[in-house]
Parts: sequence; structure tokens; C-alpha cells
Amino acid sequence: MTTQASVPVLTIDGPSGSGKGTIARAVADRLGWSMLDSGAIYRAVGYAAGERKLDLTDAHAVARCAADTRIEFRDPGGGGDTRVVIDGVDATEAIRTETAGAAASAVAALPEVREALVDKQLAFRRPPGLVADGRDMGTVIFPDAPFKVFLTASAAERAERRYKQLKAKGLAVTLANLLHEIEMRDARDASRTVAPLRPAADAVVIDTTGQPIPAVVAAVLAVVRRT
Ligand code: DC
Repeated sequence: MTTQASVPVLTIDGPSGSGKGTIARAVADRLGWSMLDSGAIYRAVGYAAGERKLDLTDAHAVARCAADTRIEFRDPGGGGDTRVVIDGVDATEAIRTETAGAAASAVAALPEVREALVDKQLAFRRPPGLVADGRDMGTVIFPDAPFKVFLTASAAERAERRYKQLKAKGLAVTLANLLHEIEMRDARDASRTVAPLRPAADAVVIDTTGQPIPAVVAAVLAVVRRT
């Protein structure tokens, strides 16, 4: 019988814009492992709480919402993006808006909500393995993971990446504003009392500044294969 603890997990934590999502997807595909996009779970809860018109500072109400909202990830096949289905409704695009991002950030700061989401995240640990992408995968959710990486990139480079993404969507943004927002968010994320953003003591820290994606994928795969 396979126990959950015997299923290997690779945790990939780091700030937004460090390339985690792209790298996690590529590495999971290469290993043939499944993937947990924990940010999408916080986004889904922020979105569901908004749909229910909850006060996002009401920790108990939002935690109840987190516990009873059904969040499913569906593979559309044909190499398409994973669909995020919330209580039976496809919300893949809806959870990616700036509003949903702000709601996610607000609900993620509530300890009761984080606690309510622990079991949902642990349930992703299934054979043959899991790549878990987030902020506290290696520190809080899978502290026993055999493989842990923490991706970083300079604030300037993360701002640049975000700038290109938003410009491609036709949004009017300035690089200076994005850099300022990223620096503020870094400070907030690193200083929050619940699950602050920091590398696990046993994580391999990889700086992706100036690195092409294949080089980062290779560096992360090397962490899994070095044993
Ligand atoms: O990675 P992302 O932008 O999709 O994350 C959305 C929000 O959720 C962001 O504010 C950080 C937060 N988050 C978190 O607190 N813990 C995680 N494990 C993943 C995301």
C-alpha cells in the first residue's frame, strides 16, 4: 500500500514573478507528476467569497467558505491550460483578474483560512509524485518533502516580466508603478505573521534573474535527480 508520506513531493516556493508557475508546470510534465497550484486555491477562495458577498476581513465566514467551496482542477486535454472549476462553474479566467488577486491576497492573510485549506492541499499528494507551487509549500504544507526549491529573481526583473504580461493583455501600466507594487508586496509577504514568505531551511535557493526558462527547469530537475 502506498502511504501519502511515501509519495515524493517537490516544493517550489517564491515570490510572484519568480517564474514558479511556468517552472512548476514544465518540471511536473518532465517528471510525469501532478501539480498543485496553491495560489489558484487562494484565488478561488477569494473569488468564491466575493461571489457570496462576504466581508473579506470576517475570518470565520471566509474560512467556512474555504472549507465548503468545491475547487477542482481539470485537465482539458490536448495540452490546454488546466481549468479551475469552483462549485461546478469554470472560473479559470475569473480568478486571474487583478480583483481576484487582491481578494486572494486578503484571504491568504487570515490564519483561519490557511488552516481550512491544509487538508485540501495535502490531498494532492498522490502517486507517482507531486510538484507543489506556492509560498509555504516547503515550510508549512509539506515540511517533509524530500525536494525543495525556492525561486527568486530581482524585483526589477519581476517587474519587467509582469510589465510584459500586462502589456500583452493591452493594459495601461508603467514599469515604475509595477516595481513599486512588487517591492511593497515583498515587504508585506515577508513580514506577515502567518506563513511569511521565506525559504525552508532545507530548500535550494535558485536565482532566476537573467536565466532562460530551460536553464531554470534543468536546475530544478537536478535537485530531484541528485539523490
Ligand atoms: O501565486 P498567486 O499570485 O496565484 O497567489 C495568489 C495569492 O495567494 C497571493 O496573494 C499569495 C497567496 N498565496 C499564499 O499566501 N500561499 C500560497 N501557498 C500560495 C499563494
